[in-house]
Amino acid sequence: MWPLWVAKSKLPVGILPPKKLAASDECFYVRDTDDKSESSPVAREQADLLRQKLEIHVKGGLDAAPIFSFASCNLPVKLLHNLETSGYDMPTPVQMQAIPAASMGKSLLVSADTGSGKSASFLIPIISCCTKVRIQYSLGHKRPLAIVLTPTRELSIQVEEHAKMLGQGLPFKTSLVVGGDAMAGQLHRIQQGVELIVGTPGRLIDLLIKNDIELNDVMIFVVDEVLMYSATISKEIEKMANSMAKDVVIITVGKPNKPNKAVKQLAIWVDSKQKKQKLFDILMSKQHFMPPVVVYVGSRLGADLLSNAITVTTGIKALSIHGEKSMKERREIMRSLLVGEVPVVVATGVLGRGVDLLGVSQVIVFDMPNSIKEYVHQIGRASRMGEEGQAIAFVNKENKSVFADLVDVLKSSGAAVPREILNSRYTVGFFSGGKRQKRKRHGC
Ligand SMILES: Nc1ncnc2c1ncn2[C@@H]1O[C@H](COP(=O)(O)OP(=O)(O)OP(=O)(O)O)[C@@H](O)[C@H]1O
Ligand SMILES: [Mg+2]
Repeated sequence: MWPLWVAKSKLPVGILPPKKLAASDECFYVRDTDDKSESSPVAREQADLLRQKLEIHVKGGLDAAPIFSFASCNLPVKLLHNLETSGYDMPTPVQMQAIPAASMGKSLLVSADTGSGKSASFLIPIISCCTKVRIQYSLGHKRPLAIVLTPTRELSIQVEEHAKMLGQGLPFKTSLVVGGDAMAGQLHRIQQGVELIVGTPGRLIDLLIKNDIELNDVMIFVVDEVLMYSATISKEIEKMANSMAKDVVIITVGKPNKPNKAVKQLAIWVDSKQKKQKLFDILMSKQHFMPPVVVYVGSRLGADLLSNAITVTTGIKALSIHGEKSMKERREIMRSLLVGEVPVVVATGVLGRGVDLLGVSQVIVFDMPNSIKEYVHQIGRASRMGEEGQAIAFVNKENKSVFADLVDVLKSSGAAVPREILNSRYTVGFFSGGKRQKRKRHGC
């Protein structure tokens, strides 16, 4: 949910004649020029209006107005073509603000809904910046220019594929650095010359300790999916970001850390012993089962046992995915899920964050995670780009540590709160007594 972007470079900004967009119902005019600065008071006022309309909040010194089209970003022509063929007709709100900000060389901390296009908001400037540098300085050894770190292998694989898709036909090579694949091949690829490294921290550190890799040319460093859940951006996150880079600009779209509104949540009170049966009932119901479905559980063993139980009891093919499986198996399971070959995948956190599960519109949170932020990420897998999705979450007294936050999340999305939670001594008084009071009582 929180890509942290640290940039060292300033990209050249060309000037194109301004384009005028048609007035909307709200009589909203925006000049979309290649000069993204808000130098005049009028430009500043228009940029503010647009941000207000799109719920874009900016904290820190940023003189970059949101953009309305990719064509006005001074991007390489081939990149524009790739965006078009990928069906990216116009930037999403987070891209509208993050792309021009990144192009000005700003270090960013970005927050927006799950499935709202944050990956492209850092990949587009990376590809643009890297190719411009390579074209300008074509001689010498091609050392990496950018690094993207993600918490899971699955997400790294997707981000690398995404980068390849958008960077096709450009002097832009990528390398994937994740555990489970042979390190020699990864090292060889980097030594051949790449622009972008995408990987998980463990393998990257391993690779750097054991080998001599020159990272002196790295201009852009992105940490995708890192930080804590909070209703606002916490001081700790800001502090950490500021310790990594100077003058960090914080861009938030919508309300931070709230679940994606396109996902309809249904929280059901189910005692632990009844959870399996409840799941089987849902999977066997023509009305409620919307395959392909991802079922989230809390442990690797739980994932294996539950997937077997689903197949044995319901006859529906189910596979499990978790950190103990080989990369070959994990890749194959992802493939079969995405092409719709397997109707149910039971997953641990490896599929919880960031992964783009196109085609999945239903998730079942079988084991409620201990942190509400994890829940928000998991249910976010049911919707991409505002498409409607559904999340069913099983809750019972074992999840009491998240009751207060869950009530908050459900209420803010207009979803019903199970009576048992409302009546629980862990939530009673939370809303009447005020959040602070309750949190204090729990020592938070
Ligand atoms: N401008 C765009 N137009 C059309 N589709 C887009 C655009 N930008 C991104 N997408 C698509 O939207 C989907 C979701 O994007 P992405 O995975 O980057 O979301 P995210 O904000 O990073 O979500 P999460 O918080 O779950 O990590 C992807 O399938 C991506 O290809
Ligand atoms: Mg993401």
